[in-house]
Amino acid sequence: MMAPRRAVRDGLGRPVSDLRISVTDRCNFRCTYCMPKEVFGADYPFLPHSALLSFEEIVRLVRLFVQLGVRKVRLTGGEPLLRRDLETLVAMIAEVEGIEDMALTTNGSMLTPERARALKAAGLRRVTISLDAMDDAVFQALNDVRFPVSRVLAAMDAAAAAGLQPVKINAVVKRGVNDQQIVPLAEYFRNTGHVLRFIEYMDVGNTNGWRMEDVVPAEDMLRAIHERWPLEPVPPAHPGEVATRYRYLDGAGEIGVIASVTRPFCGGCTRARLSSDGQLFTCLFGSRGHDVRAWLRQNWSDEALLDALAGVWGRRVDRYSEVRSAHTTHSPRVEMSKIGG
Ligand code: GTP
Ligand code: 5AD
Ligand code: SF4
Ligand code: SF4
Repeated sequence: MMAPRRAVRDGLGRPVSDLRISVTDRCNFRCTYCMPKEVFGADYPFLPHSALLSFEEIVRLVRLFVQLGVRKVRLTGGEPLLRRDLETLVAMIAEVEGIEDMALTTNGSMLTPERARALKAAGLRRVTISLDAMDDAVFQALNDVRFPVSRVLAAMDAAAAAGLQPVKINAVVKRGVNDQQIVPLAEYFRNTGHVLRFIEYMDVGNTNGWRMEDVVPAEDMLRAIHERWPLEPVPPAHPGEVATRYRYLDGAGEIGVIASVTRPFCGGCTRARLSSDGQLFTCLFGSRGHDVRAWLRQNWSDEALLDALAGVWGRRVDRYSEVRSAHTTHSPRVEMSKIGG
């Protein structure tokens, strides 16, 4: 493993090892908890192409972040497969020395077998596909564009067949909306080799009307599954992993829970996030980013950029989820669709 040329630690001693890059703010779904139609309607001012970071700009930043310690890249959106020629970007990032893992978070709606094979050939290692329900009525009420479950399941098959494995599945659970889907989801994904992860509904952004009562604690989700199919804990794959892992005692595979509300994991948070318009966020719950796009377009040198990026990380003291109760729920925050979770 290559040592970072200029390893940085933030104000709480955390290195930066993971860069999450949003490649578009657009999505073809209107999940009610993420891009509700009343806000993200026909006249919503999505970014013009010129406002997005170009592939060259993104790759330049990836190279610089590798020098600071980044080893893992995740491409997100919005829906990242809406970005034209995403395979080209994947290939460009795969060439950067020091990147050991590259994954993509997608809703699966455009992940055809051909696209999955092209992404794999370009150097993508893994995909995470979101699916919040097995029941079509529940899923379609959530995605709000009548997208059927069967087509998301087909995308998972396409990903696995192309070797983008293991496929991880993200299911956000909202009380009274899809909590009845926990056991059906678990049942479907047992013995598939896919890793299903249940996510506590979070108070990201300003538009989803989050209330603590909407959160189903991970402990309750686990209990519901454990009663049907007993589970045992699995040690974390790496420090700072967001999902807590469990395996079925009967050998049917592994699941995870992401308890960002009831058991926050800020202590191990090594994630930097770039929004599609080139703002650097050091926390998912940040209110404003640092305008890295402006620095790039003012032709800063690599050294100047490195100094600035290291400075931003060095001053970071974010731990929003651990201090959530001290905040009002109305302080302005970046939208999830802009930085991709
Ligand atoms: P791998 O370990 O690379 O497979 O990815 P991951 O486990 O980090 O998963 P992923 O990126 O899919 O994250 C899953 C979900 O966890 C996200 O959609 C968020 O809802 C939540 N999450 C991820 N990172 C953070 C974080 O830094 N803070 C908080 N509060 N939630 C996060
Ligand atoms: N809370 C938790 N997870 C969320 N996601 C989107 N909005 C929220 C929220 N409010 C998830 C999506 C997807 C990932 C990118 O983030 O379902 O799996
Ligand atoms: Fe799109 Fe994902 Fe947000 Fe749903 S959660 S609207 S699929 S970005
Ligand atoms: Fe990291 Fe912020 Fe999430 Fe805490 S709340 S884990 S600091 S992104």
